[in-house]
Amino acid sequence: MPDNLRVELGERSYDIKVGDRLLATAGTLIAPLLKNKQAIIVTDETVARFYLHRLTNSLEDANIRYRCAIVKAGEPTKSLEAFGELMETLLEYKPERGTTLIALGGGVVGDITGFAASILLRGVDFIQIPTTLLSQVDSSVGGKTGINSKWGKNLIGSFHQPLMVLADISTLSTLPKRELLAGYAEMLKYGLIRDEAFFTWLEANGRSLIDGNPALRSEAILNSCSAKAEIVAADEKEHGLRALLNFGHTFGHALEAETGYGDKLLHGEAVAIGMIMAMQTSVAMGICPKADLERTLAHYQACGLPHSPKQIQDEWNINALMDHFTRDKKAKDGKLTFILARGIGQAFTTQDVDSGLIRDILAQACSA
Ligand code: NAD
Ligand code: GLY
Repeated sequence: MPDNLRVELGERSYDIKVGDRLLATAGTLIAPLLKNKQAIIVTDETVARFYLHRLTNSLEDANIRYRCAIVKAGEPTKSLEAFGELMETLLEYKPERGTTLIALGGGVVGDITGFAASILLRGVDFIQIPTTLLSQVDSSVGGKTGINSKWGKNLIGSFHQPLMVLADISTLSTLPKRELLAGYAEMLKYGLIRDEAFFTWLEANGRSLIDGNPALRSEAILNSCSAKAEIVAADEKEHGLRALLNFGHTFGHALEAETGYGDKLLHGEAVAIGMIMAMQTSVAMGICPKADLERTLAHYQACGLPHSPKQIQDEWNINALMDHFTRDKKAKDGKLTFILARGIGQAFTTQDVDSGLIRDILAQACSA
């Protein structure tokens, strides 16, 4: 597979480059895309410590002027309040319509930078330089941007595609194992929703990839981005096919909301648990072989991925979890939409799920 992919969206098409040490040449790679040679880098305190100098050196090499906005690391930075502060900082830097924002960091930095770019001066360009596995395989591609509300996750946002995605896999060397695993869950998602062969490949190679094998990492990231690029090109605004990318997310978002978007439960961990709950629902409805759920659980165990809410905390409020579902963005005419699976690699969207069954699955999962 080439290390350069393209998201085909007409005049908004863009490249995804995956490679080792891309940060060193980032300035040269992005310079031809900039309206003027002026950028604002948005990054978080942790990523800034490791990688900001590499990016600023490369911008200087390419004669790109820049300012830096450094936010706090972690999901609370996606609050309305923190986002307001970021917008004030960006405006303080006197941006012009030709200024480009550069997101250097994980999904949090990517989501807030993309959203800021979509509304700053009524819209400026932005570039994604993802530095977590999760952001390299999922959040940096596809143009979903946004922040959280007290009512739920990513409820305030926009679709705004980047000009380019640069995934430098050498940045993963400093990523804590727990964060890496959380990203691996989103990678596994591509196998579970549409590609059993990729799931089988991950069963064989997942552990070496997690342990740091760069060739396997690169291959898996490219495969994941290719899957996402194909889905986004077919259904940018999520009228159908793209909803499959939310496999496990309805359950996962509810768990995240209940744990307060903190360190207790990372987004990728919530998705990992949510995907198991979606499969449990599918098995309970008699549409998915139990063997596929067991095979998935076996791989989770081999990798060390969490599979149950009970592993996160002892007590859950089932009514509160059910209430979060009603705010899900996929709800239609008040009916909940779930992504279920007929087996590994065979996800589909349905509104035909009994809420009593969902309550039973939640109650079982939260006590098992
Ligand atoms: P994150 O951005 O919070 O990063 C995780 C942690 O790793 C942070 O503390 C960060 O400072 C640190 N970090 C980042 N890169 C590092 C590196 N190379 N070395 C060491 N530490 C590093 O979290 P995430 O898991 O990348 O992203 C989760 C967010 O992405 C969630 O808010 C989720 O909603 C969003 N998301 C968005 C989409 C989308 O399509 N827009 C898709 C999936 C997830
Ligand atoms: N991560 C879900 C999507 O991009 O649609």
